[in-house]
Amino acid sequence: MSEIQTKPVFKPNKEFAKTARIKNMCEYQALQDEAMENYEGFWGRYAEEKLDWMEPFNEVLDESNFPFVKWFNGGKLNVASQCIDRHLESRKNKAAIIFEGDRGDKQIITYLELYYQVNKFANLLKEDFGVKKGDRVVIYMPMIPEAAFAMLACARLGAIHSIVFGGFSAEALRDRIEDAEAKVVITADGAFRKTKPYMLKPVVDAALEGCEVVEKVLVVERNNEDVEWVAGRDYSYNELIKDKSAVCEAEPMDAEDPLFLLYTSGSTGKPKGVQHNSAGYILWAQMTMEWVFDVKENDTYWCTADIGWITGHTYIVYGPLAMGATTVMFEGVITYPDAGRPWKMVEEYKINQFYTAPTAIRVLHKTGEDEPKKYDISSLKVLGTVGEPIDPPAWKWYYEEVGQSKCAIVDTYWQTETGGHIVSPLPGATPIKPACATLPLPGIMGEILDPETGKKVGVNEKGYMCVTRPWPSMIRGVWGDPERFIKSYFGDVKKDDKAVYFTGDGAIYDEDGYITITGRTDDVINVSGHRMGTAEVEAAIKKHWNVAEVAVVGKPHEIKGEGIFAYVVLKSDNGVADEIEEMKIINSHIKQEIGNIAVCDDIVFAPGLPKTRSGKIMRRILRSIAKGEEITQDISTLEDPSVVEKIETMVKSK
Ligand code: WTA
Repeated sequence: MSEIQTKPVFKPNKEFAKTARIKNMCEYQALQDEAMENYEGFWGRYAEEKLDWMEPFNEVLDESNFPFVKWFNGGKLNVASQCIDRHLESRKNKAAIIFEGDRGDKQIITYLELYYQVNKFANLLKEDFGVKKGDRVVIYMPMIPEAAFAMLACARLGAIHSIVFGGFSAEALRDRIEDAEAKVVITADGAFRKTKPYMLKPVVDAALEGCEVVEKVLVVERNNEDVEWVAGRDYSYNELIKDKSAVCEAEPMDAEDPLFLLYTSGSTGKPKGVQHNSAGYILWAQMTMEWVFDVKENDTYWCTADIGWITGHTYIVYGPLAMGATTVMFEGVITYPDAGRPWKMVEEYKINQFYTAPTAIRVLHKTGEDEPKKYDISSLKVLGTVGEPIDPPAWKWYYEEVGQSKCAIVDTYWQTETGGHIVSPLPGATPIKPACATLPLPGIMGEILDPETGKKVGVNEKGYMCVTRPWPSMIRGVWGDPERFIKSYFGDVKKDDKAVYFTGDGAIYDEDGYITITGRTDDVINVSGHRMGTAEVEAAIKKHWNVAEVAVVGKPHEIKGEGIFAYVVLKSDNGVADEIEEMKIINSHIKQEIGNIAVCDDIVFAPGLPKTRSGKIMRRILRSIAKGEEITQDISTLEDPSVVEKIETMVKSK
């Protein structure tokens, strides 16, 4: 615990603080007090101030059917209009999106141009495919501007988009398409990675084999490689868009109409379709952009995430555009052609806020420690990190070399379900400590609770990171499964006998009341900032005919944060002839079922798994063995205690 207490503290840059939206801790506290004293008044004030309503709301929060809550009842708005139309008067010629392609190609899309592109896209979906309010549209796209146009076009029509990360396999894509019952898939032939073309359309073709729900596929031709076309199903965006009108009325949406679904891993096998609705989501996306990144009118902001993840949704597209900012979108790989690529881009576009993941920071640190020095990166003001706990050495390098010891580092803690940041420093106000998410944002009732008593834990006591009141951008449901929504998020912790939202993460307070996130408390591992349910990986491995049993755990990994470690018991009892070959076969199963991101770093072919007499696999023991830790728990009550020693020996000899 002493590690946390002795962390150095870095005060906000004084010059920066002078013009920041929240300038000091008194202002922070005043906002937090206002929210505590008059929760609905606080949120109602911001909803009126920040959003352009087509019809005003008549109630701020309806909790009568908790946890199915409603924000801003009666209000009508359109999220695409929030992101585009309302900026046309004062910012029509401002860059909305600056796009840099993998091969260095560039495109600057102004707000007016974005308006036309999105309207044309919406007209295409409406006129040619019959897409209307409430329909689900799956987007399986590379990082190109058309991906953002597609999202906003759906929002304009009131269709619900569900983006599937381009690294997911055909199987994973099909599962998500079927669960969402999507009638349209938007994809691209492919794109470029490290200057070479790679393909997406063939994955869509494979996913749609035997899939009845999808009627049409729209293909953006990006790399112009040959792809198969299914007549009557597949259409070229580049062709259809040509004759579309650049005017399309925005659909008036109820505040609580769904905006999108985004599938994420949970602790059971099947991914959950996290549902976000219109008004609350866009409000918090905009407010956190303004508070946490403090983007100013002439700033250029870059988030390196992929739009396939929530960070790409909220902090590449919706948040920046809702506030009228300039957002950079990058197709390429940040370490290609070398680890100076991001700093070269910072220099060229004079980027002011840079937001990335600890994995990326570790890679850039490891492979290009001195690269930031080679470029003029003095434009940077705020650096962000998200997705996993950041380790102090990476933090230090980020702060000193990239931030030149003058930029605030905002260690933003949040998740797909929270829609936007919930715990984060404010760059002009919060004194920061390395690898610490610090304090709940104003309006967020974030507390670390003891799951047994529901009371706030004391200093240095580990507890569960919870939010005790619903907030506007909170998950509204798990698509098609209300029971799972309640069970996954409101089943574990009660405060004053009332269920509260539990994030699934453990956390700890230091003596200043600062929050440090310690990681997941469930069977979800965090690989390069991507959530991966161990049950999902296990299910993929089990599909291999020769696998009898499997248990997957996380193991610390130098670059990825956590790597995937699998214990596999084979059916054939004549041992493994060629471990490397067998490992390849198992990993190819995973690639097929989920995608490259779920490939195992280590596989041990075990003679059996440690189980209790009732047959429960003792994952804690397996985690300790994977980490090379001493086994401290009593193993004498296991079904077969000798298996532990056998596995330990196998792992040690690897
Ligand atoms: C983890 C990503 C420590 C956490 C936005 C959470 C973090 C999961 C941080 C959500 C952080 C995210 N410090 N851990 N700053 N940010 N996490 O849904 O375990 O892809 O539950 O959303 O990432 O991952 P998700």
